[in-house]
Amino acid sequence: MDGGWREMDGAAFAWEEEATFSAASVGRDDSTGALRPAALDEYVGQREVIGNLRVFLAAARRRGEPLDHVLLYGPPGLGKTTLAHIIAREMGAELVATSGPVLERAGDLAAILSGLQEGDVLFIDEIHRIPRPVEEILYGAMEQFTLDIVLGKGPGARTFRLDLPRFTLVGATTRLGLLGAPLRDRFGVVFRLEYYEEDELARIVLRAASRLGVEVDGEAAAEIARRSRGTPRIALRLLRRVRDFAEVEGDGRISLAVARRALDRLRVDPAGLDPLDRRFLLTLIDVFGGGPAGLDALAAALGEDKGTLEEVYEPYLLGRGFLARTPRGRVALPRAYAHLGRPFPGEGEGGRG
Ligand SMILES: Nc1ncnc2c1ncn2[C@@H]1O[C@H](COP(=O)(O)OP(=O)(O)OP(=O)(O)O)[C@@H](O)[C@H]1O
Ligand SMILES: [Mg+2]
Repeated sequence: MDGGWREMDGAAFAWEEEATFSAASVGRDDSTGALRPAALDEYVGQREVIGNLRVFLAAARRRGEPLDHVLLYGPPGLGKTTLAHIIAREMGAELVATSGPVLERAGDLAAILSGLQEGDVLFIDEIHRIPRPVEEILYGAMEQFTLDIVLGKGPGARTFRLDLPRFTLVGATTRLGLLGAPLRDRFGVVFRLEYYEEDELARIVLRAASRLGVEVDGEAAAEIARRSRGTPRIALRLLRRVRDFAEVEGDGRISLAVARRALDRLRVDPAGLDPLDRRFLLTLIDVFGGGPAGLDALAAALGEDKGTLEEVYEPYLLGRGFLARTPRGRVALPRAYAHLGRPFPGEGEGGRG
């Protein structure tokens, strides 16, 4: 395992040209990286997280120690990877990036750990996907900065303990629930990233537009922000697509009218729901009588992957009051009925929950 892994998140430009837009297809097309804020001061939103992080960074720097291990979790596209890069930069450290699924064998991780230098930031994306035997190696590395290597098998096996330089592990995951307690408890700092407010997303859009050299009216930026599911990655992606419409069918400037027309053609509705969001809610209302319906049943009816629904779709619908999770299953809330133009079966009819 030499080379390769020291590379930053190989997030190549993987942009599928699709007519419509869906949150599940958001993938990792963070393209140029020029749009990615490089310093803490450029990072918009997540005020509480950023405020606390500033303190922890300052304290670690003052003590001349690496930052304690940091776990970042939250839905895709909210800025976990970005924050990991910023942490390394703020500490004046190298970032060594890898990801859970890549670490198939204990040796893969051992090779990375033993190549670390004092103060390095080791970023493990999708940390919930590390296989258990590999994960166990992390425990000692995180806690005592040691690596136990077993040579041979059976009675003749010998263990060597290798001292590691002090480093900071930054783990990112969209599925905190899939992380075992022994690993979770070894992080000194755990941050949950939240969906962004519209004004924050509008600022992200305007900033990106100026970097891309596109003219965007304030109202147009706000419209893009409103339809971005609270997610910077989606906002940036919609901006690029709207720009395409503006350049090909207009004079290149993004006005409110241009933005609206483009977003409608991308089938992102005024509440920011994409076609699968709507299909999810419509299925729940029309097929399951508004619920409660189990996630398995919903996934089967939609022909979609359960994990995607749970990880990408539900958090936003729950957070925005379209959906509720009850012990008996998912239930559509009045806001979903209103948004989709379905009459809400009033309280009086009862028996729905
Ligand atoms: N706070 C922010 N301010 C400005 N831009 C942001 C912010 N957060 C994220 N972005 C932009 O949004 C895009 C997605 O961010 P990032 O890749 O860090 O998300 P992520 O949480 O790691 O997603 P995933 O779970 O899919 O790995 C990046 O292009 C980044 O530049
Ligand atoms: Mg990421």
